[in-house]
Amino acid sequence: LDNGLMRTPPMGWMSWERFHCNIDCENDPKNCISENLFRGMADRLAEDGWKEMGYDHVMIDDCWSSMLRDKDGRLQPDPQRFPGGIAKLARYLHNRGLKLGIYGDLGTHTCGGYPGTTLDKIETDAQMFASWGVDFLKLDGCYSNEEEQQKGYPLMSKALNATGRPIGYSCSWPAYRGGLLPSVNYTLLGEICNLWRNYDDIQDSWDSVQEITDWFFDNQEILQPGRWNDPDMVCPLSPVYMDQSRSQMALWAIMAAPLIMSNNLRTLSNHGLYTKFTVYSPFLCLYVTLFFLQKRSHIEVYWRPLSQSASALVFLSRRQDMPYHYHTSLAKLNYTAGSYKAYDVFTGKTLSGLSATTEFTVSIDPSGVVMWYVYPRMHYEHPQDDGRYP
Ligand code: GLA
Repeated sequence: LDNGLMRTPPMGWMSWERFHCNIDCENDPKNCISENLFRGMADRLAEDGWKEMGYDHVMIDDCWSSMLRDKDGRLQPDPQRFPGGIAKLARYLHNRGLKLGIYGDLGTHTCGGYPGTTLDKIETDAQMFASWGVDFLKLDGCYSNEEEQQKGYPLMSKALNATGRPIGYSCSWPAYRGGLLPSVNYTLLGEICNLWRNYDDIQDSWDSVQEITDWFFDNQEILQPGRWNDPDMVCPLSPVYMDQSRSQMALWAIMAAPLIMSNNLRTLSNHGLYTKFTVYSPFLCLYVTLFFLQKRSHIEVYWRPLSQSASALVFLSRRQDMPYHYHTSLAKLNYTAGSYKAYDVFTGKTLSGLSATTEFTVSIDPSGVVMWYVYPRMHYEHPQDDGRYP
């Protein structure tokens, strides 16, 4: 969608995966869906350095609204949980240099059972969001049929545009139509939405991360280059499984996916994990082609060309036994003759003097990754040289 927004994949924080539809503010005031939760997360983004890394959206998901529209048929936030209203929350974020995302659903109800946006309500709701100062809309697709979606998603795109306020637009439409051709028209989606969910909801589990990864790699040829496929939120996984969390970050980054965290930023222990990728994601989004290069001994190698002859490599282990020593060479991974350097994203070490035929070994933890940024030797002496690195 050429609305000038999201030229690189959006980044930020979203409530759903971690906080779902927890509306029990009486017993769980810190974690319930309320203005306090979003203000609190905004404080973390602004004060803990996330914003500078690009994580600049705070996105409200389902269960924010009242069960009833107001007397004029407009959506309204739950008065107990959002006593200050959405406009005030948006101002709070804007004052901190952040953007506010909101959730709607094309249909009679949201997936959580709150009022949905039926076709006749599209303009009203778009106007309401704009008047509140909302910067992003995730439009879900529960409780609508194919015909309504066919009409509704383009209509909302027009209605948002007509408000005159730039509002990023995420369409869950493909996820409701199986995500594949011919049921999904990715050309049209590219014209009307900035990003879209293609597939099922992520869960806080390694199985879910692997299942989503498989779907995106198996079907990458149907996914439209240059527009953002959204494999869903980056979840905290258990801090015990640092390897799996790293793997998700590496895989999402090499897919040029939106990096939308859903975690508890108040207690997050692995801040460093995310910081690595903020500098990489603008790079990684430049091209969308992604190749699956080798698969043996339950190790998979993914490759993506980047700007200025650089590339990204991810070695993923699907093993469950022990760190695996994987032997290969850049030539075996289709690199042309020449001399290269490889910057290891997680260790921060640079391997130089690699010719295409040099045999090397990487040690990959079970369900872990090794991620390399590979560049021709004479290119930059170090990736930090181009100023985009801290
Ligand atoms: C659907 C969406 C999720 C979330 C929930 C909210 O399942 O795919 O991302 O928004 O609805 O109810």
